[in-house]
Amino acid sequence: MLEKAGELRRIASPVATEMEITEIADREMKSPGGGKALLFERPTIDGKPSRFPLAINTMGSERRMALALGVGSVDDLAHQMGLILKAKPPTNFRQGWDLLKQGVDLLHARPKRVRSGPCKDVVTRFDATPAGDLSLDDLPILKCWPQDGGRFITLPNVYTRDPDTGERNLGMYRMQVYDGRTTGMHWQVHKVGARHGKRYYERGERMPVAVCLGGDPAYTFSATAPLPDGLDEILFAGFARKKSVELVRCETVDLEVPADSDFVLEGYVQPGEARPEGPFGDHTGFYTPVDDYPVFHLTAITHRKDAVYPATIVGVPPMEDYYIGDASVRVFLPVIKMNFPEIVDLTLPPEGVFHNLVFVSIRKQYPLQAYKIMHGLWGMGQMMFSKYIVVVDEDCDVHNTSEVLFRLCANTDPQRDSTFIKSPCDSLDHAPTVPNIGSHMGFDATRKLPGEGYTRGWPDMVKMDAETKARVDSLLQRIVAGKPA
Ligand SMILES: Cc1cc2nc3c(=O)[nH]c(=O)nc-3n(C[C@H](O)[C@H](O)[C@H](O)COP(=O)(O)O)c2cc1C
Repeated sequence: MLEKAGELRRIASPVATEMEITEIADREMKSPGGGKALLFERPTIDGKPSRFPLAINTMGSERRMALALGVGSVDDLAHQMGLILKAKPPTNFRQGWDLLKQGVDLLHARPKRVRSGPCKDVVTRFDATPAGDLSLDDLPILKCWPQDGGRFITLPNVYTRDPDTGERNLGMYRMQVYDGRTTGMHWQVHKVGARHGKRYYERGERMPVAVCLGGDPAYTFSATAPLPDGLDEILFAGFARKKSVELVRCETVDLEVPADSDFVLEGYVQPGEARPEGPFGDHTGFYTPVDDYPVFHLTAITHRKDAVYPATIVGVPPMEDYYIGDASVRVFLPVIKMNFPEIVDLTLPPEGVFHNLVFVSIRKQYPLQAYKIMHGLWGMGQMMFSKYIVVVDEDCDVHNTSEVLFRLCANTDPQRDSTFIKSPCDSLDHAPTVPNIGSHMGFDATRKLPGEGYTRGWPDMVKMDAETKARVDSLLQRIVAGKPA
């Protein structure tokens, strides 16, 4: 599909999975608009050809992100989210029809169980005799950056289940390869996979885990999306692509996975077992240091006959992950706005690498409302990681960073208009003194209202009046046309 859309570049020459693919992909991701998706047809592993091709940067532009979600623009999906949130009983036929269409879309969200699928074309079980000989060493898994601790699976869709409720979770947590059948499992302490793992540990039970690579890109997007704990990402993927996800049972663990996955790695995490993971050149643009993380033991690998290994790289922005994160913000903005109707727009600029910087514009109505928004956002799911939040008035375009910085510099008395909070921090943030905890800062860059302690009368911004603008427009037209004024 990417090829038909002119969004794919094939690379037929052999290229090493040890850093060479990273260097090519990094240059592509940093080219205007995110460049093209790349298909490496002959990746090599330690100088030997891999039997599987590798795809990278498949979501690394606004257009490819929209293609991945099966929409013309990511905003179309945001619009559909908004419609569902605002659904009211219809008062006329047209509204009734619209509501019915939304209902049909939601029906697609329900997954369908099927007996088998392409992900089972080739099945390698490690509990069979003789045990299958395919291993992670056969997959073109990248060593991304010079100081990385080894090879990392960078785009894994990790399926786990809450042992108490049976609820499924799909999250994306990178996996360092220790050997052909063992990897790390980098679910950070705040993530749902880690919460599930803790419950298995408390129950003293082995935790079944399935990791899917590839398949419909809507799964990969859903794995990264900050859905609330307990909301099934597979329902969301079905809703996004308007087609039920077909699920098959795994061979060796009691979990279900999408039938169209390119690869499925089945196995388990033994609660309590941990191993050093890292270093890894991370989203932040810095290496995250070695730390202990759970260990994933593989019990089977199944794959499509024509499987393509999917990968991404992260590092100094902008990278592919910016487009994935930006799509999340846009798709879920209607949910944020439903909680805070005064929010006009919100963005996480690329310089902030997701959590470090949030620009939000509001329709301000009462004193200290900017602080209500900061604290509200800090209390909302993964927005808790937002290191700096800048609140501006509704007439400021949050997507124009220089406009936001202009308001920040002009409209704030630093001491009066800022606030610090203690907070959980993103595990990847190397700046806090202690991992996972630290402080965040909010700036109120809105115009001050009476009641906010400012007594001097807020000045108007310098702007030309509409009448002069119109007069000059016609004057300029005459000058261009060579007519006398
Ligand atoms: C390319 C990419 C790699 C990621 N790697 C990790 C990771 O290694 N560990 C982690 O905890 N989160 C990682 N994330 C972020 C999570 O996928 C994201 O927070 C997701 O919402 C977690 O799902 P959960 O809330 O169901 O746990 C990554 C995101 C992307 C886009």
